[in-house]
Parts: sequence; structure tokens; C-alpha cells
Amino acid sequence: MTYRSEFDRSIHQREDFWREQASQIDWIKSPETIWEDRGQGHGQWFPDGQLNSADLALDANIRAGRGDQVALIYDSPVTDTRATFTYTELRDRVALFAGALIKQGIGKGDRVIVYMPMVPEAAIAMLACARIGAIHSVVFGGFAANELAVRIDDATPKAIVTASCGIEVSRVIEYKPLVDNAIRQARHKPECCIVLQRPQATASLEAGRDLDWQAAEAGATPAEPVAMASGDPLYILYTSGTTGKPKGVVRDNGGHAVAMRYSMSLVYDAKPGDVYWAASDVGWVVGHSYIVYAPLFAGCTTVLYEGKPVKTPDAGAFWRVCQEHKVNLLFTAPTAFRAVRKEDPEADQLNRYDISSLKRIFLAGERLDPPTYEWLREHTRLPVLDHWWQTETGWAICCNPVGIEMAATKPGSATFPSPGYDVQIVDTEGRPQPAGTQGQVAIKLPLPPGCLSTVWGDDDRFRRTYLEPLPGFYTSGDGGYIDEEGYVFIMGRTDDVINVAGHRLSTGEMEEIIASHPAVAECCVVGARDELKGQIPIGLVLVKDGATIAHEELEDELVEMVRDQIGAIACFKQAMVVDRLPKTRSGKILRRVIRQIADGEEYSVPSTIDDPAILEEISHQFSP
Ligand code: COA
Ligand code: AMP
Repeated sequence: MTYRSEFDRSIHQREDFWREQASQIDWIKSPETIWEDRGQGHGQWFPDGQLNSADLALDANIRAGRGDQVALIYDSPVTDTRATFTYTELRDRVALFAGALIKQGIGKGDRVIVYMPMVPEAAIAMLACARIGAIHSVVFGGFAANELAVRIDDATPKAIVTASCGIEVSRVIEYKPLVDNAIRQARHKPECCIVLQRPQATASLEAGRDLDWQAAEAGATPAEPVAMASGDPLYILYTSGTTGKPKGVVRDNGGHAVAMRYSMSLVYDAKPGDVYWAASDVGWVVGHSYIVYAPLFAGCTTVLYEGKPVKTPDAGAFWRVCQEHKVNLLFTAPTAFRAVRKEDPEADQLNRYDISSLKRIFLAGERLDPPTYEWLREHTRLPVLDHWWQTETGWAICCNPVGIEMAATKPGSATFPSPGYDVQIVDTEGRPQPAGTQGQVAIKLPLPPGCLSTVWGDDDRFRRTYLEPLPGFYTSGDGGYIDEEGYVFIMGRTDDVINVAGHRLSTGEMEEIIASHPAVAECCVVGARDELKGQIPIGLVLVKDGATIAHEELEDELVEMVRDQIGAIACFKQAMVVDRLPKTRSGKILRRVIRQIADGEEYSVPSTIDDPAILEEISHQFSP
């Protein structure tokens, strides 16, 4: 079998191909129908299949004789803790917490928000929801109360599961005041809030609503997995779109399980028993797919790391974890290695550790810049494999198909489309572009299993955003090209989404916050290039006539507002008052040119510009 033959089969004999992949998982009721079209090229995979995702992650491994194998390693340099859970131990913890959820009246289809730091209980809470058919929605712990409130109102959860605190490099972040604040702000009020008390901070509990994790578990009966239809939602994960309202990406149970299982062999060539470490956070899609679900579906040992690539305690942290837990496969974002390289350019730390267990390093979440790629290759002498995907797809759209055959890598390319993804480069009208020409990266419908089934509570938005812009295609929002040899190069977003340290953020959302300041007449936020984080947001602001606030004061207030409403993770540290904003004659702000100016790039003056002199003024402000 070659990559080409497998890819062709996945496109031209789609149903046979996915029937075969579906046979790799332990269904409660195997699907007879593989694909059901529900219009516009969108539909449902395995509609009559039944399964339980937590059963597949845990019990199925125990049935296969892996009960005593370590399922999860918790490594927390910030608390100096290590812990391991075998498949049996993890299953028992999950079943008990699932019982605790049932005791709170939570059942199939109810939503549960999980707002947790990187502790094993985060994964336990997710799997416990899956076990009883509740839909989890994990919110990244770095998001502020306002972001949490928006998600509470959208997902209308019956319960929130949280912890007393998260631990950052130099400070303990108390979560409970954020949760309380979010519930106060939200129109929807969850009925209960289960709190894991950590020794670093004790949360105060509100009588009648909040209860301690242990108290919730006391007297609970371990729950058995319930049968879920393939199309039943497993989780909702919010991601940034072009407006202030995040999109709740809905992932189903059946398609997700089949895709996760397939991706573990195709993309990572992972075998049962391998130690697989995705150095990310459960709040992001990487954490959902490759810290929690896929490694467990595949019978691997997953590593859950509560720390950073640097400063916990140093730039040798990743190599230390690889040595200590004999990691075989490592996956992280390029930013993490840019941070390591910045602190340890000669990779001296690497020589202190034995990383001989490591077979391959995988990177995704943002563009893998060639210098980081070369540095990693040179110092580790391991295959360094870029792959491209999104929250929406849940697994790699493009990858180096190592599970079939390893292709030669090209710096800057995520290699080839994964089987199942008919990736094409098109112009804004959907016309195919020749090799080497940049355009929009689109995927011919239908999407393979595992991709989003809709936007939570807003099917219209799903169709409007992803299916309607290019009829017959899924619109990825990324631009790029395919070269003569079929290698795909992703060059960046074509919309108002930016990527800061591998985190996806909306400039539109930041603009909405800035525009709400009483002294701001108009504003625009662009993602400027940053050596460490890839991009960082910069705001340009026009002050209202008659506003008397000093410019520095306004700039500081705006930075504080974004930090307060989105979170420190937005890294919004620069707002700049300008006299005018460059616009087209029809009044559209020329964001691309502003970005080029901020990056110090050559720019050409657009013919549609209203007043070219403004560009000079802006350039001068960036480099006076
Ligand atoms: N809870 C609360 N706050 C958090 C947080 C969390 N889970 N994660 C980050 N923050 C805060 C940080 O403390 C920081 O606050 P500050 O401005 O007060 O210092 C801010 O958000 C920005 O965080 P971060 O982007 O992590 O920047 P950093 O300078 O602390 O660290 C890196 C830089 C490169 C080490 C870090 O960005 C990193 O590890 N990147 C890898 C990203 C990654 O794994 N992405 C997952 C996608 S695959
Ligand atoms: P997220 O939904 O947070 O995973 O972010 C998805 C976005 O990150 C994509 O739309 C891309 O813009 C970017 N991205 C992810 N992986 C890559 C990659 N390997 N190369 C280039 N961009 C990437």
C-alpha cells in the first residue's frame, strides 16, 4: 500500500474506506450505513452505529488485556508532582465521577462546562461526561470570566466542574472567583458547581450550589457507559471566529472515534503501549484529541503535563519529561520550541538528558517556521513533522503519512492531504488554481469523519461560515498553495483570526472590546509578526472628538480591558492612538497594509485607498 493508493481509495471509494476504518473500533452496535448525506455535501457518518467514547478509551483497553498498563502520566513541575494511573485505575476514577455527576441530576445530552488547569481530574471529568452521555465543553483556564460567561450562556450547562486554582510560572491563579464572576455575568445559571480543592488555594463554596469534588463523589455509585448514537454530540469546543461570539464546534461520538483511531496510525504511527505526549492544554483541540481521546483509544500511555517549555524550571523541561517517562512521540506547537531555542540556542540542555526513546516530533497549531524546523532537526536528529489542522477538523487535514510511508519533508510544508481530505486551492469564486499559485485552501465536501457536525445551537452560522462561501467546499479560512509535487503550504489566515503562541484569537473580538471604551471613535486590531509567539495583536485607535483622556492613559486602559475581558492569553500589550485610519473609498479599513507596515514589510499602496498620505503617517508612528 502506498500513500497515493490509500488517498485515492479514501476519495473514490469513500464508504468502503471508512467502513474498514470503522471496523477498528469496539462499537456497541456496528454501523450498517456508513454515510448519510443531509444536503450541501454535509451529513452524518455511521448514523446507525452505537458506542460510548469513554468505554472505548478505557474499558475496551481493559477488555483487551491492558488494564495494568499505565494509561495516564501526570507530570507537574509547578507542583513538583508525578502520578500514574493504569487503565483500570483511570476507568474506576472516571466511573466514580460519572456516578457523582448522575447524583447531581446530570444525564444524556446535558452540558457540563469543565474549567480546569492541567490536572488529571480535567481528563477524568471529560471522560466521565462521555461515559454518561453528557456533553462536555472545556474552557481553557487562561480565559477571563467574561469569556467563560459567554460560553455559559451559549452552552447552557447544568453544571460547571472547576478547580480552586491553576498555577502559572510566577503566580497562582484562583479560578473560583473567575467562575463566580462568570456565573454572575451570565444570564444562564448552572445548577451546580463541583470544585477540586488544590492545596495552593482554597476556594470558598456557595451553599446550595457548590460542592467539593470529594463530597460530590462520596456515596456515588460508579456509572456504566451508556450507548450513544454515532451522531450524538460528545463535546462542544469554542473557538474564535471573526466576531466577538465564539463558535461552539460540535463533535460527534462515532465519527470522532473512528477518525481519532485512524489518525493515531496514519499521522503518528503510534502503537499500543507507546508513550504519547501532546504538550498542550485540555482547553484546546490538541488537548481534546491528543491528550485525552486518541492516545487512549489507541491503547497508548498519555502524558498530561502541567508546566511550560521554559521556566519550569528551565529550557530542558521537555527533554527531562521525555527522559523520565520514556516518551516515544512528542507533539507540541512551534512556539514552544521557539521559546526553548531562545533560552538555549545551542541545545545544551538536550545533552543533559537521554531522549533515545523519542522516535518523532510533531508540530502544529501555527506555521512551522523553517528556522525552528532546522534547529530541531539539527539538534535532535529526529524526524520533525509538521501537520496542519483546526479545531473544526479535530485531526490533521495535512500530514506526513508516516503510518503508511514517510515522505521527504519540505520546510514550510505540512506535506500531503490526509486520506479523506480532498484539499484544493481555489480563488474566491471557487475556481481551482494551478500548482504554485496561492489561493484559499478549501476541502471538497464531504469532510471525513471527526470533523465538526455543526455550530452549537446555530446551524445557520455553520452553513454560512463553512459551506456557503464556496459551494461544494468546506472553507478553511487559511490561505496557501500546493506545489508541483503535491506538497501543501499553509501561509496563514485570510480572515480576522490571528494565531498567538499557537492560540487562536479573534481580532474582531478585541475590536469590539476596544470600541466599547467611551473615548474610542474607531479602531482596528491586526496581528503583527512576533519572533517568539508568531503573531501578537496591536490596536490602532482613533479618539472621539472632544475626549480629553491622555493618550498613554487610554492606551493602558485598553490593554487592561482586553486582558480583563479575554484574558492574559490574548497578549494584547500595545494600543496606539492614531490621527486617521487608512481606508478604501468605500470605508473599509485596510488591515493588510497596516499589518505589512507593522511588520516593517514593503507595501504597495492599494488603488482603492482614500488618502495615501495616511500610510506615511502610520509608518512613521511604527518607526518614528
Ligand atoms: N491560566 C491562566 N493564565 C494563563 C494560562 C492559563 N492556563 N496560560 C497562560 N496564561 C497567561 C500567562 O501567565 C501570561 O500572563 P502574563 O501576561 O501575565 O505573563 C499570558 O497568559 C500569556 O501566556 P503565554 O502565551 O503562555 O506566554 P508566556 O510568555 O507565559 O509563555 C510560551 C510563552 C512560548 C512558553 C508559551 O506561550 C507556550 O508554552 N506556548 C506553547 C503554546 C501551546 O502549547 N499551544 C497549544 C496549541 S497546540
Ligand atoms: P486552532 O483551531 O486553534 O487549532 O487553529 C487553527 C489554525 O491554526 C489554522 O486555521 C491555521 O491558521 C493554524 N495552523 C494550525 N496548524 C498549522 C500548521 N501546521 N501550519 C500552518 N498553520 C497552522
